[in-house]
Amino acid sequence: MRIDILSLFPEMFDGPFASSIIKRAVDKGLVNIYVNNFRNYAPDRHKVVDDYPYGGGAGMVLKPEPIFAAVEDLRGSPYVKNPQKPVILLSPQGRLFDQNIARELASRESLILICGHYEGADERVSQHLATDEISIGDYVLSGGEPAAIVMVDAIVRLIPGVIDCLSTADDSFSRGILEYPQYTRPANFRGCQVPDILLSGNHGEIEKWRRIQAVKRTLERRPDLLDSASLTAEEQKILARLEYFNHL
Ligand code: ADE
Repeated sequence: MRIDILSLFPEMFDGPFASSIIKRAVDKGLVNIYVNNFRNYAPDRHKVVDDYPYGGGAGMVLKPEPIFAAVEDLRGSPYVKNPQKPVILLSPQGRLFDQNIARELASRESLILICGHYEGADERVSQHLATDEISIGDYVLSGGEPAAIVMVDAIVRLIPGVIDCLSTADDSFSRGILEYPQYTRPANFRGCQVPDILLSGNHGEIEKWRRIQAVKRTLERRPDLLDSASLTAEEQKILARLEYFNHL
């Protein structure tokens, strides 16, 4: 997979991309990540990338020319939108990033992420260049860079071969519900005991306990997820039982 990031602050990616899972994926050749400063594509001598908003108002707006030129350099000109080759504008106005979007993007061969700044990018970037606009949450960052780092991390770990696929299959959200609680040694830490069932060696009972815990935790912490989760028949039974006892 190839990921191109367009940013005015490429140095923000140095640390996050040089460690842990992302670095390992790059070293293994499973993903190539390029960070391009789109200031280099500004047509004028002074490399201006922003301007005052038409109609007045606070802040500056990113000009369309450098961003279009940077994307066309990567995708060819004239540029034709192709959802198979996503060009994603990061902004608080986008659809909310989640595990399903991460999975969908991890299956693409190439990806361009555009990091906005200031008061955002000229609307024509969103309308005529980007195939998608994504937000990582309902808060405003000072730029799209932290959002790009979050997305790249979530996407890269799903690329086959990057990490053990059994561990991503068990992730929170992999089927739309939260993960069961995990413990490691010591069995007794400052008087807090690991649940007996996990020490029993009875794998069937352990799996059952984990399914119950995952549903219970989702019901307690993120009941909103249960509306669209793909629960097995057994998990639906567990949920019905938990809801029944909650109403007693
Ligand atoms: N840029 C500024 N805020 C953002 C957000 N919440 N998500 C993605 N990009 C952003």
